[in-house]
Amino acid sequence: MASYMIRGGNRLVGDVTISGSKNAALGIIAASMLLDGPCKIDHAPNVDDINMLVEICRSMGAQIRREADGALEIDPRFVTNGETIDERSRNIRGSYYLLGAMLGRFSYASIYMPGGCNFGPRPIDLHVKGFEALGATTVFEHGRITVSAEKMHGEHIFLDTVSVGATINIMIAAAKTEGVTVIENAAREPHIVDVANFLNTMGANIRGAGTDVIRVTGVPVLPGNVSYSIIPDQIEAGTYMLAAALTRGDVTVRNIIPKHMEPLSAKLEEMGACVVSGDDSIRVFIPEDTVLQATSFRTMPYPGFPTDLQPQTTVLLCTAQGNSRMTENVWDNRFQYIDDLKIMGANILISGRLALVEGGNPLTGAKVFARDLRAGAAMVLAGLVAEGTTEVNDVSKIERGYESFVRKLQDLGADITRIDS
Ligand code: UD1
Repeated sequence: MASYMIRGGNRLVGDVTISGSKNAALGIIAASMLLDGPCKIDHAPNVDDINMLVEICRSMGAQIRREADGALEIDPRFVTNGETIDERSRNIRGSYYLLGAMLGRFSYASIYMPGGCNFGPRPIDLHVKGFEALGATTVFEHGRITVSAEKMHGEHIFLDTVSVGATINIMIAAAKTEGVTVIENAAREPHIVDVANFLNTMGANIRGAGTDVIRVTGVPVLPGNVSYSIIPDQIEAGTYMLAAALTRGDVTVRNIIPKHMEPLSAKLEEMGACVVSGDDSIRVFIPEDTVLQATSFRTMPYPGFPTDLQPQTTVLLCTAQGNSRMTENVWDNRFQYIDDLKIMGANILISGRLALVEGGNPLTGAKVFARDLRAGAAMVLAGLVAEGTTEVNDVSKIERGYESFVRKLQDLGADITRIDS
């Protein structure tokens, strides 16, 4: 189990370049399995979740090569059926997009139930509801999910809850399904737009991605043979913006879409940080003599405050002046990391989905765990400002989603090292 040793107290200063979006890449790589020709995907992040999905696609017959510049050359033509027997699909969430892709291509898909971070129950009933509306039947058996259809057809689908995964999965399944599929109450996250743009570049006809009504007109062939560049990772970018504010540093985050960062930028400014947006960069710094003030936020689907920045933002609230309120509206159980923060000296009271954060208690280094991907990042941020040394264990969870996390932090001046044990 690898760990990070962090000696707190250094201000982060300098530039950091953001990698391609992990969550967009998961959807795009899975969607590429639907294509009738090869494609090239630029800026696919070199992180464990993506590498695992690539391995799963290879196990299905896809030919995938990673170029020196990080681009993925993908040829899905050698995938001959929708059966995925690779057990690694249990380890990541994004493997569920193979259901949509294989269903759309072969009218049959079967995989082990997807895994991913543990935030409490993570149902996939809405994905299933969408597939069934398109004509599929579903069987859950021996830890696997199998969806199959005699004939798929476009349909009107209303999602009862706004779901990123279900929106993407249904969009993928519908891309080659005859007729028009309309997804209502669709999620609007940037990576949904990215997956739609990818599919359109490959020959699909998807309109409305980024709004709550997406219209997919099925096409018989997706020729591919095109390159596509993945958008920057909104959550990685937010993590560095928070690290800058937290260490009272001065960091310019590059390769970023400032529009995607607005919910966080607005909160940081409300607290007293300076956030200066350029075309594809954001500089975060704290003016001299400014004391960051407490604030309140609630996580919501995009364009609301992202749940995937909730743990990292809570760490910042611990260092602000005054008491803050944070409400987690997306996941039932995303407060597990708070016990670790308390070990480090934070004073946080939880009541249902609400956390009351008392600011101003100094954090001190301790041995803590990465409970999940973003919670792990939050522990690293806490270590950057804690007095003494913080040991963050089980960091493979962090490396599922942050490319070169240790190196990027070191380049900004953090005292952090990775220990393999
Ligand atoms: C994705 C992200 C995850 C992020 C989340 C919300 C990936 C791989 N993961 O997860 O990091 O935290 O979006 O931005 O992209 N729900 C149902 N039924 C379903 C599906 C979801 O009830 O069939 C509920 C969930 O329990 C949750 C809410 O809908 O409360 C949102 O989940 P969803 O947007 O689907 O999250 P994921 O796509 O799994």
